[in-house]
Amino acid sequence: MTSTIANEGKTVVSTNLALTLAKRPGQRTLIIEGDLRSPQVLANLGVHPKPGMGEWYKSGGSIQDFIYKTTKGDLFVIPAGVEGGDPIEILQSEVFGRVMLALSQQFDWIVIDSSPLIPVADASIWMNHADSALIVAREDKTPKHLLTKALKTIDQSKVVGMVFNDVSRNKSANSKYYGYQYGYGSRHAQKASEAKA
Ligand SMILES: Nc1ncnc2c1ncn2[C@@H]1O[C@H](COP(=O)(O)OP(=O)(O)OP(=O)(O)O)[C@@H](O)[C@H]1O
Ligand SMILES: [Mg+2]
Repeated sequence: MTSTIANEGKTVVSTNLALTLAKRPGQRTLIIEGDLRSPQVLANLGVHPKPGMGEWYKSGGSIQDFIYKTTKGDLFVIPAGVEGGDPIEILQSEVFGRVMLALSQQFDWIVIDSSPLIPVADASIWMNHADSALIVAREDKTPKHLLTKALKTIDQSKVVGMVFNDVSRNKSANSKYYGYQYGYGSRHAQKASEAKA
């Protein structure tokens, strides 16, 4: 999950998506607090900060020690951690690639709440380890020219859809999908953003 800039709703949408996936019978779901610079998933889940990615990388230990089961069905979380560390160094490390591969065998779904695309390269690196990407855009927040620029920085073949977040009731009075709107395929995603802009 990524977006163009900060505050478009990536963490809210990621958390809700992960909670929904984990409610389905037999679907072990992992959410990774992948925005190592501005982690908010734990707070959204009502969990206190815990050691996570930063501590795992520093310790050279097993990632299994940093996977926590939540109280919400079959939902597990890997926190960003409290110690920090250089996100680019962690995400580009060889050991991290191996860990992502191992996690993909262990869970039915992995939701990565990532950072925005424009200010930093982290989300593009996350995308190398993901099967697909969802882009969040927010009404009255996402500048069209920056979204266009952001989309050019990533592998668009991985973009499976867009979430058009925080759509106002007035403009969508007839829509039963008030709050979020979904588009599938990057062309739809771009059209949605253009319609808004
Ligand atoms: N649909 C919505 N309706 C109302 N408030 C929302 C909605 N989506 C997000 N918010 C609020 O907007 C703020 C930013 O949301 P969120 O943290 O999910 O964005 P983000 O893209 O993850 O930001 P960052 O890039 O800083 O991590 C939060 O306070 C969140 O509760
Ligand atoms: Mg966030």
